[in-house]
Amino acid sequence: MEQVNEYLCKYKGFIFAAGMTTAEHIDSLQTFQIRDSDVFLVTYPKSGTIWTQNIITLICESDYKQGNEFPNSYETMPWLEFPKGHSDYSSRPSPRLFVSHLTPRLMPPGLKDKKAKIVYVMRNPKDNVVSYFHFCHAWSGLETPKSFEEFLQQYLAGDVGGSSWFDHVREWHTHRDEYSILFLKYEDMIMDLRSAVEKISRFLGRDLSEDALHRVVEKATFKNMKKDPKANYEFLPEDLLTKGQFMRKGIFGDWKNTFTVAQNEMFDQIYQDRMKDLPFQFTWE
Ligand code: A3P
Repeated sequence: MEQVNEYLCKYKGFIFAAGMTTAEHIDSLQTFQIRDSDVFLVTYPKSGTIWTQNIITLICESDYKQGNEFPNSYETMPWLEFPKGHSDYSSRPSPRLFVSHLTPRLMPPGLKDKKAKIVYVMRNPKDNVVSYFHFCHAWSGLETPKSFEEFLQQYLAGDVGGSSWFDHVREWHTHRDEYSILFLKYEDMIMDLRSAVEKISRFLGRDLSEDALHRVVEKATFKNMKKDPKANYEFLPEDLLTKGQFMRKGIFGDWKNTFTVAQNEMFDQIYQDRMKDLPFQFTWE
């Protein structure tokens, strides 16, 4: 791993938070044995990861009865690239659920046989960078930015954990035909959570009854998830994360309270230049 600074390191062109993983572990994913029943959630950081992680674990909950339950969504659906605490993935019961911020070329090649499923969630990058900026103040493993302007420049250059939002979205979209993948947008999930849950459960081949669907939707609302100790990541040590900070505002359009007019114009120009050939239409506010 190449150390970028005190807080970040780089491996194979991808930036990780320092100390969270090793080159050996990332390399080991190249021989990771995929099972047909595996489910992966992939996101760029701050795109609604723990929200969708909670939804998927709730949808698959019935698979984990008979003494196989885990204490929280983090354990039920561990991080693929962060080996701490659950590195022996091969002994996990099926269906295995994983969450990841990785790009296609770092993911297990076996995913390309299209049997396992990937849910990819993306969020409009203006709200994404604002959420990320606040998160840097809450997560002790990340450098606290001096200003939003400074962080915005780092984000646009891809000099943050997860590297570039633009590259992440582009790479997954470019390689979409190689995978069995469902693309979802954070804003659509906010506007119609029930439809998003239905889409995910259909994609995962789980037919939920009306009652089960209702239960997942209820448990996944911002209000309810915020107070759910199994889902809100408050189980992480307080020296790592200021309590409650994974669940901050849970809205879209909040970027308007942070971006200056000049920053917005600059961002729009860069977005237009870098994304014009991609078909995504984000809801910005
Ligand atoms: P904000 O910081 O804008 O509030 P990630 O899990 O990828 O780190 O993303 C975190 C973002 O998702 C935070 O955005 C958080 O509030 C939001 N989020 C988490 N759970 C949510 C929910 N149930 N509904 C809506 N947004 C949620």
